[in-house]
Amino acid sequence: MRTRIIAGNWKMNSNPGQAKVLASEIVVDCAAIRAVESGVTVVLCPPYTSLEVTINLLSGTGLHVGGQNCHHEPQGAYTGEISAEVLAAIGCSYVIVGHSERRRDQNETDSLIGKKAERATASGLTPIICIGETLQERQEGVTMEVIQRQISEIVKAAGRDVVCGSVIAYEPVWAIGTGLAATPEQAQEVHSFIRKSLVDIGAVGVSLLYGGSVTETNAAELFTCQDIDGALVGGASLRSSSFASIISAASGQSAR
Ligand code: PGA
Repeated sequence: MRTRIIAGNWKMNSNPGQAKVLASEIVVDCAAIRAVESGVTVVLCPPYTSLEVTINLLSGTGLHVGGQNCHHEPQGAYTGEISAEVLAAIGCSYVIVGHSERRRDQNETDSLIGKKAERATASGLTPIICIGETLQERQEGVTMEVIQRQISEIVKAAGRDVVCGSVIAYEPVWAIGTGLAATPEQAQEVHSFIRKSLVDIGAVGVSLLYGGSVTETNAAELFTCQDIDGALVGGASLRSSSFASIISAASGQSAR
């Protein structure tokens, strides 16, 4: 079932003490709690070392915690990696896979990302699978081909059922951390294409998030788009007031 989801990707920011402060501010600001009560799913994705403190702080609030990555194997000799099993065991319920920064820096491929999504699902986590085109691909006019290829390869590696139970985040690489968000029309065009590709394989009801320079200023307009179910937020999720406004926009509440 399509649900409204706002996920905050803290990336490599916040030590446990800072995570405690930020998560507390998000809880104290009633916007997040009200949004959860009105059916919005809110997920915080801190760095690994700040997961536990965040999980403890959010306990009983209805807010969720997610990892930013997981390995595709359940355990083993993979120095420096983290398994989906471990994330689930400490209380995570989501995990981001295939973020463009990992595709770029760790050479992650769609097939590997599909395997990670499969492993995450087997561990009881909901994968947030990231896809999106680069600036060059957009300028060359091949955005939809790129998106279709990413979806097909991920479905091939993960299986249709895993994708049916996942969340997909469309994050145009050129919009991430640049302050240059896609316009609602650009985002809706790709979201509608993704929706159709998923429906074609029988994956209905998948929540589609937009990511890339979402702020308290542009969130409400993006959320009016028919196929946008929420957002994966980077920079603006590090300031509790901005994040609360984005959450409020998702639940149709006015920001405080
Ligand atoms: P941004 O990051 O909101 O800072 O652009 C989004 C993301 O990388 O998920």
